[in-house]
Amino acid sequence: MEFSINDTMINLILFGPPGSGKGTQSDFLVEKYNLHHISTGDMFRSEIGGKTELGLLAKSYMNKGELVPDEVTISMLKKRVEDNPGVQGYIFDGFPRTVPQAEALDRMLEEMGQSVNLVELKVGDDELRRRLLERGKTSGRADDTNVDTINNRIQVYKDNTIPVATYYDSHGKAAFVEGEGAIEEVTNRLFNVVDSL
Ligand code: AP5
Repeated sequence: MEFSINDTMINLILFGPPGSGKGTQSDFLVEKYNLHHISTGDMFRSEIGGKTELGLLAKSYMNKGELVPDEVTISMLKKRVEDNPGVQGYIFDGFPRTVPQAEALDRMLEEMGQSVNLVELKVGDDELRRRLLERGKTSGRADDTNVDTINNRIQVYKDNTIPVATYYDSHGKAAFVEGEGAIEEVTNRLFNVVDSL
């Protein structure tokens, strides 16, 4: 396993629309830079699987392609970070998705004496729909099987989540890579960007 650049702490937000490859590419970044992966979508799906109160609440939003309320999402994320101290760095996948989530993350990292960089995967809407519908054939994810729900997820991303990239860009902490092409090509583009941070 390789370790992060100069053994310094590295925190990344892997950003992009639904189906852009955040989960796929997180695995390679985790391996190369020895990061702790936090996916709020996976956390919610695990709560749904466990039929918890939080899972029931999350499901009512996720199945429509809407965002789970900030308050719930932020407190779940904070707990996950607190439960995993002393890691080499975090990769945030699917979080933050709103500017209040971004501000909460920055405050939390600041208290830990750390900061974060955002890297966005750029993928066109048609390719997103194609990937998600394809995955929906086997994934069992309710939000991947209905094209209206997929379109709503893409719209919610445009309305609520793109401002997060603008927020980090205004702080000089955002970069992007082309997210279309073979998985390995996208991985190499990401490595080049992360190595230059
Ligand atoms: P979440 O689980 O985060 O889903 P998402 O953002 O919609 O993203 P996906 O997991 O669908 O896609 P991805 O970008 O990870 O791509 P992947 O690698 O899987 O969120 C789900 C829901 O939870 C939200 O809608 C919301 O309700 C709730 N939620 C989560 N976080 C929240 C938050 N912070 N605040 C509020 N609510 C929140 O790839 C997709 C497919 O494409 C795969 O089949 C993959 O094999 C394929 N693929 C990947 N790369 C390529 C490539 N280069 N070429 C061809 N195919 C590819």
